[in-house]
Formats: sequence, structure tokens, C-alpha cells
Amino acid sequence: MALYPELDTPSVLIDLDVMEDNIARMQAVADRAGVRLRPHTKTHKSPWVAGRQAEKGASGVTVAKIGEAEVMADGGIRDILIAYPLYGEYKLRRLRPLLERVKITLSLDNAEVAEGISRLGQETGRKIPVYLEVDTGIHRLGRDPGMETVEVARDLVKLPGIDLIGLITHAGQGHDARNREELIGVARHEGRALLETAEMMRREGIETREISVGSSPTAPFVSEVPGVTEMRPGTYIYNDVMQIDAGVATQEQCAATVLVTVISRPAPDRAVVDGGSKTFSSDAPASYGHGEVGPRRHPGFGMVVGRPDLILQRLNEEHGMMGLADPSMDLKVGDRLRIIPNHVCGMINMHDEVIGVRGSLIERTIPVAGRGKIR
Ligand SMILES: Cc1ncc(COP(=O)(O)O)c(C=O)c1O
Repeated sequence: MALYPELDTPSVLIDLDVMEDNIARMQAVADRAGVRLRPHTKTHKSPWVAGRQAEKGASGVTVAKIGEAEVMADGGIRDILIAYPLYGEYKLRRLRPLLERVKITLSLDNAEVAEGISRLGQETGRKIPVYLEVDTGIHRLGRDPGMETVEVARDLVKLPGIDLIGLITHAGQGHDARNREELIGVARHEGRALLETAEMMRREGIETREISVGSSPTAPFVSEVPGVTEMRPGTYIYNDVMQIDAGVATQEQCAATVLVTVISRPAPDRAVVDGGSKTFSSDAPASYGHGEVGPRRHPGFGMVVGRPDLILQRLNEEHGMMGLADPSMDLKVGDRLRIIPNHVCGMINMHDEVIGVRGSLIERTIPVAGRGKIR
């Protein structure tokens, strides 16, 4: 029988049992380490899913954009970290009403951004809590740990409308660690660099209370560094081929798959499915990340569940070209396949809704209310 005959394709399926296991496992990691879990919602972009994380103990959510924060606030989430520098009048005008509705914390890495936020804090008569971001190896935002960061902190504490609550980092380079030892090294550095920098700030009279770290690969090792107060993994909720390749998830722990239909067998060695780059995103394993393409990289644009013999070799916008090693392989027009995406966050952001399933049963439609909220 065809997979999920009630659904048209392409459709994104979320295996709710797997998702719930992923939520419980990460919450247990946080609880054991005595660290608050504030999941990043960039992966699911859904207030309903954020609610399931909160039910199990998450302390709030992390988002990148004001639009995502608005969606989460509308969906009943009361404690939101916008982990992205908010600069300019457009942003500050939208931030103002959000401050009235829910608890908002911000992060930034420079005084120029902080000045605008401080002005808003003064106007509203309430200091806005901010984290100072530190670069622990991803080389994105933030200065190096140590005196470079302390210098920025000195400027921030002069601003009357913000409350510098602590230091934050995202060691996303953990996705490219080649083995467990390397990954543990990234996790240790992530936490220790912040703690040491906070200590240097303290010696100058700059007292802070929060140390926020987090990525999905480093999260399981959060207990390695006592003193961390919060972690913010996001991808763990669904997992993907990147997580499998990083050695931090198994195929069974991947909750999101794309259900597609074979629409053509135009050549003996080729099948075409009805999902391309507008369904899966264009993330090839080698195109993500910062390092080499290691031996653990799976080929293609996703993993076909139960069919390791099939490789999704090429994507056009609406066509997925599947390579068949042996022309006699059993695959015909009308067959349905489930494919684990390479990078689930990019894939989910392309869909208005996903379908929650348990086994072969369809349980609910989950709106991806935060999709496309790039402002
Ligand atoms: C600031 C911040 N925190 C947390 C995360 C979550 O990390 P991961 O995708 O490894 O779960 C991200 C991911 O991009 C991030 O940018």
C-alpha cells in the first residue's frame, strides 16, 4: 500500500513519537546538568511545537527575528530570547509592543546596537536585559573571549537603558567536528571561554549572572562545564542528515521526512520525484559547515528511508533526480518515498505546514507560523 494515501505530495511528515523522544532526551540532559533549556525555534518555527518543549520543562524559546518572536508571543510563549542584534528604527518600533506583552531578552556584540536598545529602555522606563555575544570559534558575531570582549562590556555598562545580564555564544563549528573528542573539546571551550571572560569582567566590577551556550552537537556535553546557566540547541527537535554525519543523531532519531512521489522513470538509471530545491532547500552536506567534507558525509540531498540504494543526486526547483545503481531496482511511477533532509531548518522554512504522524496514522496539521519571518 502507498505510504500515507490520505496525503498529497510533497508533504513534510513529523513523526511525533520521535519528536517527543528528542524533546525528552534533551530536557533530561539539561536537568541533569542543572542548566535551563531555551530551545532555538529556528528548526520548527511553530508555537505548537514550542508548547510541547515548554510542557516538558523548557524555560522559554530562542529566536533570531522579531517576526519570529511575534509569532511565538501570539502562540502563548511568554519568555523569548531574540539572539540577534536588533539595529535601526524599524526594528525598535516593533520591539516596543513586544516588551509590553512578554519577557524579552536580547543579544548583541557592539555598542552601536546597544545604544538604540538602551534608548528604547529609557523611553519605556525599564532596562532591557541583554547578553553580550562572544566568538568561541564560529567566527560570525562577537569578539574573541577575554579582554576583547571585556572592552565591549565596559562600553555596555555605561548605557542606562540596558541590563547586561551575561555572555552568550553559539559554537556552531561543532557541526563539523570529526570525532567525539573534537566535539567535547568544542563544548568545553564554548563554556569555559565564557566563564573565564565573565570572571575577568567581575574583576573589573562588571557583575553578570548568565552564561548561555548552545548548539545541538555540543548540547549533550553541557555538564562538562559547571557554571553554564542556559543552553539553546534547536536542530535536535527533528535532527537531519547533518546531525547523523556529525555523529550526534541516528536515523531513528530523525523526526522530519519529506514524503514524495516518483513521477517519472525517464531512463534506466534515473527516477524523478516531485520535490526539488523548493521542497528540500539546496543544502548539500558539503555546502553547509565550515570544514572539510569528511568520510562520514552522506552523498546526495537527503537520505531515503529504508532505501540506502537510492541517492537523491540532483535537484531542480521542483524535480528531484534520483540515481539508481542498478536499472532493475524496484521503483516505479506512483511509488512514494520518505526522505530525511540534509538540513531540516532550511527545509521546514519552505513549508506552510507540516503533518504530525504516529506510525501510519495522521494526527494533526502543524502550522509553520514562523516560516519566512526574516525581519
Ligand atoms: C544563536 C544560536 N543559538 C542556538 C542555535 C541552535 O544551534 P543548532 O542548530 O546546532 O541546534 C543557533 C543555530 O543557528 C544559533 O544561531
